[in-house]
Amino acid sequence: MSSRVRLCARGDVEPGQMLRVDIAGVPPLAAFNIDGEIHCTSNLCTHQFAILTDGFFEDDVVECPLHGGCFNVRTGAALEFPCKTPLRTYPVTAVGEDLYVDIE
Ligand code: FES
Repeated sequence: MSSRVRLCARGDVEPGQMLRVDIAGVPPLAAFNIDGEIHCTSNLCTHQFAILTDGFFEDDVVECPLHGGCFNVRTGAALEFPCKTPLRTYPVTAVGEDLYVDIE
């Protein structure tokens, strides 16, 4: 069973930027703006404990601040050692200017 939660407003994250989203009772989330399109992933690196939005984001890739592992934020694919496990992604639904994701 999933529940829909509000991720952010479309204007909360500018193109080329990322946003840490902490919602009570929900795993840490990250919103990424790629040319005006918002993508959402887990904000926790799959290698060890690190917050991805503390790292670097360029094009469609986020780099973990701890060991430099990288993920494609569109697909969640792990791109760089030491990350091997994909990042969880969440489809984003727009309702007006607000963006929502469904969390299981
Ligand atoms: Fe992210 Fe190691 S914790 S690459």
